[in-house]
Amino acid sequence: QDGPLVLGIETSCDETGVGIVRGHTLLADAVASSVDEHARFGGVVPEVASRAHLEAMVPTIERACDTAGVKLSDIDAVAVTSGPGLAGALLVGVGAAKALAWGLGKPIYGVNHLAAHVAVDQLEHGALPEPCLAMLVSGGHSSLLKVEDVTVGVDPLGATIDDAAGEAFDKVARLLGLPFPGGPHIDRSAASGNSVAIDFPRGLTSRRDLERHRFDFSFSGLKTAVARWVEAQQRAGATIDVPDVAASFQEAVCDVLTRKAIDAAVTHGIDDILIGGGVAANSRLRAMAVERAEAKGIRVRVPRPGLCTDNGAMVAALGAELVARGRTPSALDLPADSSQPI
Ligand code: KG4
Ligand code: ZN
Repeated sequence: QDGPLVLGIETSCDETGVGIVRGHTLLADAVASSVDEHARFGGVVPEVASRAHLEAMVPTIERACDTAGVKLSDIDAVAVTSGPGLAGALLVGVGAAKALAWGLGKPIYGVNHLAAHVAVDQLEHGALPEPCLAMLVSGGHSSLLKVEDVTVGVDPLGATIDDAAGEAFDKVARLLGLPFPGGPHIDRSAASGNSVAIDFPRGLTSRRDLERHRFDFSFSGLKTAVARWVEAQQRAGATIDVPDVAASFQEAVCDVLTRKAIDAAVTHGIDDILIGGGVAANSRLRAMAVERAEAKGIRVRVPRPGLCTDNGAMVAALGAELVARGRTPSALDLPADSSQPI
């Protein structure tokens, strides 16, 4: 077995993740989620998330070590998400990572959450294609990034100007009476619906919008359009065909995401697109991205769904790459930086 043994900690949102990798090999990916505690609020509550991280941190570290069959003293380096994310939540992970690194006398690497979403793919498909165009779509972000060297950083080309893609899925699911988080429910419901039943708007795709927002996204207009459509049906006393609405909404989101990702890759002369974040689990997004990219000679890589959502393995994966490429570790007083670029 080759490569450094790295433990990664992720606490930027509502998942307490601890992953252990050796080089490109995943040994453990323990995740404790507080999603159920947020469900009744319809979104993540920062205070609730921080407390849940505190409670879950030590047991999750122990679970990861047990699964990997390693002792903490075997670890070569500790990596931790230092931002962007919820300030209080990040602090819990960064504090735990500092304590571990200091106690073990091992280097600590503060990593960018989005770069970690990109690096995780090497656990599934081996060495990253660099440069690549990364599309990260989750409940918290919707970004197109150019990645030349993932250990140096990610270069934002565009992002959502309002709601994140996952947020749109969650809000529309709520309108349709589906549980939180809504993405998987919309995905499932859409499978039996007609995606051309309703012609929902594609945000920031008009010629005028493209001049200023070529690689940006907007999903709040789409969400409003779905809400209006549902209201109009209810006023008319018509029943709402949930699968048709879900499929038509999903088609609109996937259409814009894939169109812009491919446009960005072509514009920047990049042959590989990597998709990450919770929404990358969407079956229609995967199929559409592959089909449209292949038509342009572009390859698409999507890690399996379990690696797309927030987890500690992605942080460990990037940490292992930082060690492998000889990057300088962070200082032991590294700050949690909730507003880190992108
Ligand atoms: O990366 P992630 O676990 O963490 C956040 O950034 O919150 O992403 C969660 C998001 C949620 O909005 C969820 O509804 C969405 O990813 N999601 C999906 C699917 N699975 C999860 N959206 C669409 N289709 C899916 N199959
Ligand atoms: Zn994320």
